[in-house]
Amino acid sequence: MKGIILAGGTGSRLWPATRVVSKQLLPVGGKPMIYYPLSVLMLAGIRDILIISTPDDLPRFRRLLGDGSQLGLRIDYAGQDRPRGLAEAFLIGADHIGDDPVTLILGDNIFHGYSFSRLLEKSVMDVDGCVLFGYPVTEPEHYGVGEVDAEGRLISIEEKPEHPRSNRAITGLYVYDNSVVDIARGLSPSPRGELEITDINRIYLEQGRARLVELGRGFVWLDAGTAETLLAAGQYVQTIENRQGVRIACIEEVALAKGFIDADACHRLGKENDGSAYGRYVMDVAREFH
Ligand code: TTP
Repeated sequence: MKGIILAGGTGSRLWPATRVVSKQLLPVGGKPMIYYPLSVLMLAGIRDILIISTPDDLPRFRRLLGDGSQLGLRIDYAGQDRPRGLAEAFLIGADHIGDDPVTLILGDNIFHGYSFSRLLEKSVMDVDGCVLFGYPVTEPEHYGVGEVDAEGRLISIEEKPEHPRSNRAITGLYVYDNSVVDIARGLSPSPRGELEITDINRIYLEQGRARLVELGRGFVWLDAGTAETLLAAGQYVQTIENRQGVRIACIEEVALAKGFIDADACHRLGKENDGSAYGRYVMDVAREFH
């Protein structure tokens, strides 16, 4: 299974904060936003990851994460010069995907919840078709919306519908088998000029190969795309971290827990940031690891 993080876009809802830097590099709870989607892929057991961003921002992501080997990963980078839609990720990433299945996550999406790791590992295993994740929201008209029948089967998907048929937003985490590349190649831009991921999902649905996994009430899904949601995401993370003394999306800790790196390597990574509470936390995690 390959992974892609889509971390381009214009970030216009955050202007002027994102005029000269990618939204996905802004801090959320004391760490760059991209740590959150990156840790989701890592928790799913995915180690071969492509980061797609604007040509302007790519060097900054590269400086932050390098080739990923320090985390036991392989990270590659590719540019998207204009935001032509989420589905373009599969065209830009076609070589990276090769003959494998792929999980795409949006760079501004934050997931947190009990047993998420297990749910992820199960969802990416032997995927036949696509797996989408549904989450109840108060304003579904701003999202792709999935409708399920009485048995919980997905029966329709609509992009930002005026009259949503359910309150289930399709989140920015998508698992596909390898046919997604061919499907993406066959797409035409929508009236808003984008290659729509909803069109891909609808094709899987028509083939009877789309599954929706419900993320329940105890789960948190946030997209940090506006000043309000960016602040809310930071406050949420800080509240949990202060209360429990554990960190959300600490990529060094995830790498250690998944067995991608050993405790010594983890400690070294913490030491590089020992001026901050984050770095000292990473060193503590490494010391306490058995
Ligand atoms: P959006 O939040 O829809 O777009 P945006 O980030 O450009 O922000 P705004 O609407 O404020 O202008 O994008 C969702 C995520 O997908 C976000 O992480 C950016 C990323 N993205 C790309 O990388 N390329 C694209 O072509 C699009 C449409 C989005």
